[in-house]
Amino acid sequence: MDSAAMRAVQIVDLSGPASALRLVELPEPEPSHMLTPGSGVVIDVHAGGVSFPEVLQTRGAYQLKPPLPFVPGSEVAGVVRSAPDGAAVSAGDRVAAFCVLGGFAETAVAPEFLTFPLDDGLDFAQGAALMLNYHTAYFALHHRGRLRAGETVLVHGAAGGIGTASLQVAKGLGAETVAVVSSDAKERVAREAGADAVVRSDGAWKDEVKERTGGVDVVIDPVGGDRFTDSLRSLREGGRLVVVGFTGGSIPEARVNRLLLNNTEIVGAGWGAYALGKPQHNRDTAAALARMVEAGTVRPLVGARFPLERAADALETIDQRRATGKVVLDVRA
Ligand SMILES: NC(=O)c1ccc[n+]([C@@H]2O[C@H](COP(=O)([O-])OP(=O)(O)OC[C@H]3O[C@@H](n4cnc5c(N)ncnc54)[C@H](OP(=O)(O)O)[C@@H]3O)[C@@H](O)[C@H]2O)c1
Repeated sequence: MDSAAMRAVQIVDLSGPASALRLVELPEPEPSHMLTPGSGVVIDVHAGGVSFPEVLQTRGAYQLKPPLPFVPGSEVAGVVRSAPDGAAVSAGDRVAAFCVLGGFAETAVAPEFLTFPLDDGLDFAQGAALMLNYHTAYFALHHRGRLRAGETVLVHGAAGGIGTASLQVAKGLGAETVAVVSSDAKERVAREAGADAVVRSDGAWKDEVKERTGGVDVVIDPVGGDRFTDSLRSLREGGRLVVVGFTGGSIPEARVNRLLLNNTEIVGAGWGAYALGKPQHNRDTAAALARMVEAGTVRPLVGARFPLERAADALETIDQRRATGKVVLDVRA
């Protein structure tokens, strides 16, 4: 293979996760990123994170719609090949980075303000789980949910990527956690992620939560759909329901009299829209998460792993609701 060529996976049409991907050979990217034109950290990718947005991208259903064909993959872990002057990382460093696109490839480029040293205690697969989900979880819990130590958090989709990250970050912020999951296998994953209690989405979860906690302070909701009203009913006075996503398929609507009657709030948490233009916000979040990694509360749970050429299987795992923890591509297995 030519030294300036790399293996990558592209989305070539919008026919869905099973058929829209192609393994291709492409020229390696220049050290330039769309958020920092003319500048960027070039990374030899060892592991690529796979997430719900890539599934949506294969259907043209995600807000970011690059022209076809394009290389998806928003986050990676690997080794820095080159970094711009003034960056906090340099050649040879192990890093976790958010590249927005281009992560399903042997070489990727990320802005310096979204590239962070990877703790020696975490492997590359865990590093590929650290940016999107953990930065979102911290944003949703701390900034948007205003979570305080001693409060109680209910986490939906708790065995998933956002779910496991939210359970661990909530613990790191000193909260009690209750996980909502749909199966025994997912219950085990939620407990491994540190859930203090687990309830089942197909049972009387709202009543169990009320009985156990008297009402929760914060709900983290990446699922949406029918359970939204019961999430609102699960809040105690002053509680905050944080809207993170809609894996359940439908976007819920709220009768706002419920907010007035119980003095509660619904708040949105859109991490990318908020954080990608704010370098210092990302550095502060990475520093807070690094302290949680060091303390042992943040330890990403990696579920299914696939080689780069099986990226379609990785996306289908998420699409078919089979994912637990983080789905990862081993790019240089
Ligand atoms: N707001 C932001 O800034 C932000 C950032 C990152 C991701 N997100 C969004 O957050 C959501 C979750 O992402 P994720 O990476 O955590 O996904 P994931 O790992 O696949 O987990 C999603 C969970 O949703 C639950 N679920 C309920 N109904 C489902 C259905 N019909 N299909 C699939 N899952 C279903 C599943 O849990 P049970 O089976 O236990 O119900 C599943 O574990 C996505 O919508 C993603 O786009 C938002």
